[in-house]
Amino acid sequence: MESLHFEPLYIFNSKYRCRYEYGLNPKELPSLDPYYPTQILEHRQAQYKEFLEITKPFVDKLLLYLKGIPTLIIVTDHERVVLDVTGEAFFQEELGLKPGLAFTEKGAGTNAVDLALTYEKTFQVKGKEHFFESMHNFSCTSCLFSTVNWYNEPQKGTIGIMTSVENASPLHSGLLSSVVDGIEREFKLRVQNRKLESLNQIMVTTSRNGIVITDKEGKITECNHSAEELFAIDREDMLGKKVREVQPFGEYVELAVRKKQRIDNMDLNFINIENKMKYITMDVSPIYGKNQEFIGAYGQFRDITDRVELEQQVIQNEKFSAIGRLSAGLAHEIRNPLTPIIGFVNLLKNESHLDEKVKQYLRIMSDELERVRKLVNDFVIVSKPEPPELKKTSLHTLVEQVIRFMESQGSLHNVQMEVNHSIDETDELLVDASQMKQVLINLLTNAMDAMERGGAIRVETGKDLGNGMFSIKVQDEGCGMSEDQLNQLFNPFFTTKDDGLGLGLSICYRIIKNHGGTINVVSQLGEGSTFEILLPVKEGREAFIFE
Ligand SMILES: Nc1ncnc2c1ncn2[C@@H]1O[C@H](COP(=O)(O)OP(=O)(O)OP(=O)(O)O)[C@@H](O)[C@H]1O
Ligand SMILES: [Mg+2]
Repeated sequence: MESLHFEPLYIFNSKYRCRYEYGLNPKELPSLDPYYPTQILEHRQAQYKEFLEITKPFVDKLLLYLKGIPTLIIVTDHERVVLDVTGEAFFQEELGLKPGLAFTEKGAGTNAVDLALTYEKTFQVKGKEHFFESMHNFSCTSCLFSTVNWYNEPQKGTIGIMTSVENASPLHSGLLSSVVDGIEREFKLRVQNRKLESLNQIMVTTSRNGIVITDKEGKITECNHSAEELFAIDREDMLGKKVREVQPFGEYVELAVRKKQRIDNMDLNFINIENKMKYITMDVSPIYGKNQEFIGAYGQFRDITDRVELEQQVIQNEKFSAIGRLSAGLAHEIRNPLTPIIGFVNLLKNESHLDEKVKQYLRIMSDELERVRKLVNDFVIVSKPEPPELKKTSLHTLVEQVIRFMESQGSLHNVQMEVNHSIDETDELLVDASQMKQVLINLLTNAMDAMERGGAIRVETGKDLGNGMFSIKVQDEGCGMSEDQLNQLFNPFFTTKDDGLGLGLSICYRIIKNHGGTINVVSQLGEGSTFEILLPVKEGREAFIFE
């Protein structure tokens, strides 16, 4: 122990504690019992997994650098427990070193791992500076590392070089410090990248816009929940698919993949799985990596259906009010003298003394005057309809009555009518029954007109009490409509028929709107059309907006 005087104070103090506080004997290295039971060790190794992964290539390089010198690289956590040992197998066996053992002062005597953690700097403990004699052949250098992991928890420990005393070198400290520096930097970068990645992830998943991302081959690598909802396609069905195969946006994103084209704010519409027209605005853009190389494409889709529908409604309303203002007065002026004229013609028609030819002229006049009256009446309804006379009505019965009334007309057209009720006879709704009948008659007449070669018309009633709505659907197998026709459908005087006035649907629209309801159409050219009326189940007259 004479040499004690020349040892640094920290070695002296440590050895003093070993001997007098812990009562250790330098000749007897106690067996290094595992400090952590296997389960805890595995848990701790899992906590440091990412750090150990990053450490590995650095350690391999270090061992390569120290090639020819028997060396062990030891990684410990802050409790001095070995998490990983790499290097000379012979050394490992001689010392019985393995993960789970601890380099505490109390268990392993004076050692570099403990000193590095106690004083928070790099230490070299050589030969006899170790407390236990069995460690006198070794030189250990330990360097402290300190990082913050993904969960913002500090992670501390040591990385050390253990070699024989003859091979001890003061360079080991410098070497270790620079390796630890490198590892810490790499770890920080990785955590940062992970954070960025997850931030991106959060932004993508929480966005109310649909987002679809492809790789450079145009294969979909990511899509968010909003995209799934908007296009009614499952994530699993999208991922891995070539984007160009996914409708309705595929061909546009493909442009970004193939031609590196950007698209901003482009409007697109499509019929979704529920047969509803959806309107979207879309941005598409190629994505470039840090060296400006193309790495994929990105599509973002905003659902603007509500806005477009509102715009269309506003436009529609304006058309009606303009027409209304212009023509209401005129129609009334015509209707007033019309009533006595029709009356007199009908009287004359029945005069028995009249010549047969005159009678025939009068019949023609009467028919034509009826047509004029219908035109004027229809016109008045469109331009300034009567307020609905609301009465509790069974929609079930109302539909049955109209169907019965129209059946003979149907058989003339070779058309069968099928009715399917989901509402009960006792379900009542506050409506103007005669106006509602008029709506149904108009829809059924149109459906028959559309089916030149006959077919079936399906009428379906339904109720959705959750949303407080009754519905009536009229579905035909007729000629269907083009998009252009659909756009003009409710415009007054829009007709494709030689003898049509183009007022039927305008009247329907007015009436349904005055009942606080909506009317929707889905149509496919050549395949048929479906008109759906939704009526709110509300109490009292005030429930309806009347213009
Ligand atoms: N079920 C349908 N199938 C195909 N096209 C239809 C259907 N319903 C309406 N249409 C189209 O919409 C146009 C407008 O219909 P609307 O009922 O308003 O007028 P119309 O039937 O032409 O004349 P009218 O005033 O006598 O009803 C029709 O001319 C037709 O082109
Ligand atoms: Mg019609």
